[in-house]
Amino acid sequence: MDQEIMINVQNIKRTYGKGHGKTEALKNCSFSIRKGEFVAIVGKSGSGKSTLLRILGTIDRPDQVYGTGEKPVVEIEHKDVLKLGDAELSAFRRRRIGFIFQDYNLFPEFTAAENIILPLHLDKKEADKQRLKVLMESLGIYECRDKFPQEMSGGEQQRTAVARALIHEPALVLADEPTGNLDMENALEVAVLLKKAVQNYKQTIVMVTHDRQMAEYADRIISIEDGVVRI
Ligand SMILES: Nc1ncnc2c1ncn2[C@@H]1O[C@H](COP(=O)(O)OP(=O)(O)O)[C@@H](O)[C@H]1O
Ligand SMILES: [Mg+2]
Repeated sequence: MDQEIMINVQNIKRTYGKGHGKTEALKNCSFSIRKGEFVAIVGKSGSGKSTLLRILGTIDRPDQVYGTGEKPVVEIEHKDVLKLGDAELSAFRRRRIGFIFQDYNLFPEFTAAENIILPLHLDKKEADKQRLKVLMESLGIYECRDKFPQEMSGGEQQRTAVARALIHEPALVLADEPTGNLDMENALEVAVLLKKAVQNYKQTIVMVTHDRQMAEYADRIISIEDGVVRI
């Protein structure tokens, strides 16, 4: 067993709908990602990037295979996540995975600092004030700590979402077009920050993007075309 493997997926298919409305979003995907890698998943709109990321993040499951077909495998840190029950899975996800979405997903009624420490609260843990300060400073948003999302720029909101994904020091950070709503300057800054996170904490980052320039920040690019992964 290779201890350095973070993600191992094999024979992943994901079909939405039935009959005429059927979409085979993922046709057959198999690949692995090592610990500490920064991987970009690139592909056109509709190619299956978000579907794949949701499966890696354990918030969706691949199609089940009945009979003798090759069974899907999703292993995160060597854990066979398809075998976990809901409670176990949500605890695993909360502790080990951090998500960053394109539309930030901040809670409007909470300040920046409150939004960032939310994952810890959900896990009934106290936030380390010093770590929060250092993290916010490193992302250039410490001045925003008492601001509500609507009082911040898009770049500040996205950096708050990045901080929220990193506060619990997850082993795996998943980002779905994290820079899609930002101008080039802010977008590149977020990419640089993600790269630093990998270097500083040996976190593994999987970033979905349709922007080739953004993908250049990654150590490795995985392309996806019409539900088929090309490594
Ligand atoms: N919940 C859903 N129900 C039905 N079809 C979906 C759903 N989510 C995605 N799809 C379809 O699956 C395909 C892949 O979508 P998605 O993974 O969102 O692609 P991407 O993120 O690369 O744009 C698209 O054809 C999309 O329309
Ligand atoms: Mg998408």
